[in-house]
Amino acid sequence: MIESALFKNASLVLPNGIKEGDIFIQNGKIHSIGPSLSHSAELEIDAKGLVIMPGMIDSHVHFREPGPTYKETIESGSRAAVSGGVTSFFEMPNTNPSTTTLEEMANKKQIASQTSLANYAFYIGATPDNLEVLNTVENVPGIKIYVGSSTGSLLVADREQLIPIFENGDRIISVHSEDEQMVQDATQQFADSTTPSDHYRIRSTEAAIKCTKMLHGLANDYKRRLHILHLTTADEVCFLRENPSSYVTSEVCPHHLSLYGPDAYDRLGNLVKVNPPIREKHHTDELWKGLLDGTIDCIGSDHAPHTLEDKDKPFMQAPSGMPLVELSVRLLLHYMNQGRFTLSQLSHWISAKPAQLFGIHSKGVLKEGFDADLCIVDTNATYTVSRSSVVSKAGWSAFEGSELKGNVVMTIVNGQLVYREGDILESVKGQEIRFN
Ligand code: DOR
Ligand code: ZN
Repeated sequence: MIESALFKNASLVLPNGIKEGDIFIQNGKIHSIGPSLSHSAELEIDAKGLVIMPGMIDSHVHFREPGPTYKETIESGSRAAVSGGVTSFFEMPNTNPSTTTLEEMANKKQIASQTSLANYAFYIGATPDNLEVLNTVENVPGIKIYVGSSTGSLLVADREQLIPIFENGDRIISVHSEDEQMVQDATQQFADSTTPSDHYRIRSTEAAIKCTKMLHGLANDYKRRLHILHLTTADEVCFLRENPSSYVTSEVCPHHLSLYGPDAYDRLGNLVKVNPPIREKHHTDELWKGLLDGTIDCIGSDHAPHTLEDKDKPFMQAPSGMPLVELSVRLLLHYMNQGRFTLSQLSHWISAKPAQLFGIHSKGVLKEGFDADLCIVDTNATYTVSRSSVVSKAGWSAFEGSELKGNVVMTIVNGQLVYREGDILESVKGQEIRFN
């Protein structure tokens, strides 16, 4: 274990802008930030030409433990995370069994404390009858509700079943927002489809906006914090822009910003089958607008690993989701290099804002006294995505062949160097994230 490290001559992404300077870390914390620090340290790295940002807090990943661990374990998912500059993750409850009880929550935390290389937190999943657990379980980012069903068996679809959850308690409620009945009806109609691009017809724009309007109404009626995960439609972005609410925030995912139909389905078939779906380009364009104008608050990866064998099933049977935890920062650096946004904006969407929205203690910005969770990037390096480079057990990427400008070169978790240029240092362990 390293007790202290000094990074010299870096570009530091600070809360008030980017400054050239040094950063000294000691006992897992950021000790000092400044122009020419002269502390002696166990590890000293000349970071000239590199950018140091807060590590990504990926507030949306699916690992598969307990359950189909051949797709991912907490350990393998956390390895993928740190190799992509992610220093903390919130994992979703649609494992098997689902995380809907105190016992299952304790089990995940126990496994993570032994095996996770990154800092971790686990969502508690809502069922129609676990209200007491939702409000008594300790130290979670929030409650996850599948208002429309997806991978796994979690579902609370009816407004009548949702009301008690909105009415009781004050934790943030994060939702998968698609109208279940509309999706079920369309699934029947398309039962014989073998065309992957039918996915956005089955999981229609109408199903998404209908559900989002209903949930937005509940949040306002019951004055309850609602976080809408993975926005995909122009309709939802426009609705949220026109109906701002201090109770409602939202997320967008890198794949919905990057890929659109029918092109992506023609090229990649089931590999781009995700819920909610990748849609046509005008939706993607509006997601970008919403992100840039502040309608959308943050970016999470929705890393949802499935193997190629799983994805090889006929379209209607193939599972939804794609691995992304290790590529989000790299993809976003690429967009930053295209001039679409600045490094400070990027850092805000992937670190500062998630920390603020979920009330994470001492993370999300580079500040003296805060946890030394760092993502060190070379914005000028190129990174070609290849199957052999994928760390996730999923073992593939929808972005294979892409040449990205901007690369993650080092990741520091709690002051420990855990990833450096392709090498993962297994001995480093993450800690449970503490929420205020
Ligand atoms: O595409 C998805 N995959 N969407 C979800 O809601 C769940 C996820 C998964 O766990 O596979
Ligand atoms: Zn998800």
